[in-house]
Amino acid sequence: MKATAVELLSEDAAREELARLAEAIAEANIAYHTQDAPKLSDADFDALKQRNALIEARFPHLKRADSPSDQVGAAVADGFGKVTHRVRMLSLENAFYPEDVTDFVDRIRKYLNYSGDLRFTAEPKIDGLSLSLRYEFGQLVQAATRGDGETGENVTENARTIADIPQHLRQAPEVLEVRGEVYMSHADFAALNTRQASRGGKTFANPRNAAAGSLRQLDARITAARPLRFFAYSWGDLSAPLAETQLGAIGRLAEMGFQTNPLTALCDGPASLIAQYRKIESLRPSLGYDIDGVVYKVNDLALQARLGFRSTTPRWAIAHKFPAELAWTDLLGIDIQVGRTGALSPVARLAPVTVGGVVVSNATLHNEDYIAGRDSKGAEIRGGKDIRIGDRVQVYRAGDVIPKVADVDISFRKSDAQAYEFPTVCPECGSPAMREEGDSVRRCTGGLICPAQAVERLKHFVSRNAFDIEGLGAKQVEMFFHDPDLAVKTPADIFTIASRDAANGLKRLKNRDGFGETSVAKLFAAIEAKRNIPLDRLIFALGIRHVGEVAAQVLARHFSTWAAFEAAVTQAEEGNAAWDSLLAIDGVGKTMASSLVAAFANEQERAAIDALVAQLQVQPVVWKAATDSPVAGKTVVFTGTLEKMTRAEAKARAEALGAKVSGSVSAKTDLLVAGPGAGSKIKDAARLGIEVLDEEGWLALIGPA
Ligand code: IVH
Repeated sequence: MKATAVELLSEDAAREELARLAEAIAEANIAYHTQDAPKLSDADFDALKQRNALIEARFPHLKRADSPSDQVGAAVADGFGKVTHRVRMLSLENAFYPEDVTDFVDRIRKYLNYSGDLRFTAEPKIDGLSLSLRYEFGQLVQAATRGDGETGENVTENARTIADIPQHLRQAPEVLEVRGEVYMSHADFAALNTRQASRGGKTFANPRNAAAGSLRQLDARITAARPLRFFAYSWGDLSAPLAETQLGAIGRLAEMGFQTNPLTALCDGPASLIAQYRKIESLRPSLGYDIDGVVYKVNDLALQARLGFRSTTPRWAIAHKFPAELAWTDLLGIDIQVGRTGALSPVARLAPVTVGGVVVSNATLHNEDYIAGRDSKGAEIRGGKDIRIGDRVQVYRAGDVIPKVADVDISFRKSDAQAYEFPTVCPECGSPAMREEGDSVRRCTGGLICPAQAVERLKHFVSRNAFDIEGLGAKQVEMFFHDPDLAVKTPADIFTIASRDAANGLKRLKNRDGFGETSVAKLFAAIEAKRNIPLDRLIFALGIRHVGEVAAQVLARHFSTWAAFEAAVTQAEEGNAAWDSLLAIDGVGKTMASSLVAAFANEQERAAIDALVAQLQVQPVVWKAATDSPVAGKTVVFTGTLEKMTRAEAKARAEALGAKVSGSVSAKTDLLVAGPGAGSKIKDAARLGIEVLDEEGWLALIGPA
């Protein structure tokens, strides 16, 4: 779907869109990484991130404190021990077209100011989940998932059960963290699903989910029974370098006993990278495992070190993704689902069709404009063709997730086919469904009156990153909501189940299907335990539109206590002083502020919030400093010519170490780094008593890359 071109966005529209993107990306991240239940296709997810980056590039001052550009993955799930990665586990920037590959190479040359020989490795991008294996003196001591890149889950016992992962290494450095991808082959995946189905167990949508679900088992015996494999392609913490080149280092890992991908090739520029991409693409159907692109990496490790990292991705690597897979089928009907924020989402019911090895019988149709053949600004998409029930439609999926309807072939359309009329009342509660200006989504206005919204809110409330109550998942919440005796309609009702149940005599929960004395006691204990809740989780759990997990953290850190947060939001009204101070918080925009204020001003919502908070003891949030580097939190100015690195490289390294880089010297400056040709800034620094270092001194201070 075509959105407004970024060049045409007004500043207000850009700010609002960045808020929407931050929320959508955070939600998708949680679904994908923490719940192994993706809600967006990889291609859609990439498109959201790309659009976010484009808008930020045009309006750098609008970049949010919770910008998705600065985040990798999602926080770890409870249940496993946590591992702080000594070297962050990062993500990769994506390329989709050959021009992106040329750009990648050009950017590297420019960044390094380098016109010499530049080689790259090209290898398949395995569609599994990344794992970091720590070896000390050749013994496997720890295995951790990526998590949010900083902290992952400790899955050591599970990793030990994977045949491709050596327990002991020959000729390894004292400390070696090997990184790679855990995956499942197509054949093993099919056999596992057959086995699961025959035992009435859970089947998996695709090999990636099967691999993730199998590795993240709290009981390692289950992992041991699952056919997982591992390819090594990278490393983290190291006591001694493995080699001088990427290819050499991968060769060393292979010698130590790891599986490395046989399709890894050395290339000398965009043309040969793209040739290797085509080759791998042609082999893709016969590989026997899922790949979703080709990864290019600078071969020279000294250059990799100089190139370093942006906030979440290395500058020296890129993932060239394969296009999504397509199929044609018949559109049998359109269902409308009502989500947590009231959004009416049209879902296509399809004649089952295989797309990229998975049988698809429903797909998203996004919103009413999409069905009508328009974008939200009224411009044509698909050449203006609308989509009607009975049409022959094209479906695609990229990777593992919810498929989309991409196109329609109207030559198959029957002459009596009617244009689809999108409902203007909520199919669940009958309230009017309205569209706000500039929003492509029609929303039910029923709020908590709408049973669909109320139930979705409850599911969100108990979800893993919100209250995360053991034994109370989406299924139980749905059941408790509809049960006339329990009548769990709002979050506060969860905390009164036990007392109401006690007063309920014969109709007690323990007498119901699926519940016994022990499970009820456990559930009540789990609910009790969550009366004590950190402020950020509580704010996130409220499920207020535009207030995602990261925004909740920003608010919790800013206000520290529930009382301060509640007072600030209650007092705020567009234009007054409380409103201005809400907007002054780095990371809070107008959209989020309006949404917060509206939620607290709505009588019914407010009553639900107050009733909930009355049941809780909210823990205040204490702010922790980000890094312990010698320049963390310092404001640094670079001036004059730098000889060892470009200005961009110097700035990026300083920022990576937690410093703030500024263009001008002021009383706030802590350090001036001055190279040859420096002018008035040195005088300014001397006048203000600011420390001045030359490039050597600066490098000595921050240490090697
Ligand atoms: S290199 C610093 N090589 O793709 C980045 N990653 O989208 C190191 N992946 O998190 C990653 N195959 O889980 C690399 N051959 C490959 C890969 C690969 C799959 C995954 C990895 C990474 C994700 C980024």
